Amino acid sequence: MIDLSTALGPLELRTPLIGAAGTVGSVVDFSGVADLSAYGAAVAKSVSEDPWKGRPAPRVAPSGLGMLNSIGIQNPGIDAWIEEVGPHIEKVSVPVWGSAVGKTAGEFARVAAKLETVGVQAIEVNLSCPNLEGQGMFALDPGATREVVANVRRAVRVPIGAKLSPNAEDIAAIGSAAVEAGADWLVLTNTVWGAGIDVRTRRPLLSGLIGGYSGPPLKPIALRCVLETRRSLPDTPIVGCGGVTHGEDVIEFLLAGASAVCVGTAHFDRPRTASTLLREVESIMREQGVTSLRDYIGKVEPW
Ligand SMILES: Cc1cc2nc3c(=O)[nH]c(=O)nc-3n(C[C@H](O)[C@H](O)[C@H](O)COP(=O)(O)O)c2cc1C
Repeated sequence: MIDLSTALGPLELRTPLIGAAGTVGSVVDFSGVADLSAYGAAVAKSVSEDPWKGRPAPRVAPSGLGMLNSIGIQNPGIDAWIEEVGPHIEKVSVPVWGSAVGKTAGEFARVAAKLETVGVQAIEVNLSCPNLEGQGMFALDPGATREVVANVRRAVRVPIGAKLSPNAEDIAAIGSAAVEAGADWLVLTNTVWGAGIDVRTRRPLLSGLIGGYSGPPLKPIALRCVLETRRSLPDTPIVGCGGVTHGEDVIEFLLAGASAVCVGTAHFDRPRTASTLLREVESIMREQGVTSLRDYIGKVEPW
């Protein structure tokens, strides 16, 4: 009997797969498209205090084997979100996590407190949005990270995960600040800054010029972030996030030290991909005679 369950800080997850924020809508609307039983949890798109209209089109573009986006966290604001999505959250067949975003530590905390009222199981603190116009990224600075996470920690009782950026110069230092401030786990990582230009029109692929790059090319970068952070913070639970497309990618992140992994861009090609991923993971486990997924966590071997 193969055991696909895993633990993440205080939470038990039935599978290691987590629907990545921004790629599974509000989770409630995703339930009509995907098989939610394949996930241990799913993260609703980030929400801010006031409505954000996001960046103008074009804001998504394929590039190489990955994808560029500069959505700019378009969202209706927490009050409208709660009215629309809130009543359905506890009826969905997967634990839903909220994702808070903001321009100040106070805004993050107020959004998180409201998210908690509708029954989310946990809250991700999105410190790493690559598309916040005119504002630096919190996840590049340990002090800013500490301040936001500490404010969210004081505002809610549910577990919180800090979502960091591969653009950080020293991701382990940022992770350490987040954990000291009360994060229960780290999500490694959000998209990496990227850009593209159409050589015929000579215009950027994104109206915002620079956006976030995701998908398979992000995997080695996210994996490096997991390895570096695990080395510095061996007791901190980690969610690996970046380019997961095949069962092998899931196991690679676990070996590097993640306890669970997000599935993001892969949903745009195949919304039901999580069920396939789980079958692939099970098949590798059978082949290797591994019965519990937890036996992979952090078990990368040295040369
Ligand atoms: C279109 C799009 C929208 C996203 N929106 C959010 C968001 O609202 N909040 C967030 O924390 N991450 C957001 N992300 C980042 C993903 O959750 C994930 O961290 C990233 O895409 C890397 O994983 P992947 O390579 O599997 O997609 C978004 C990604 C994409 C592609």
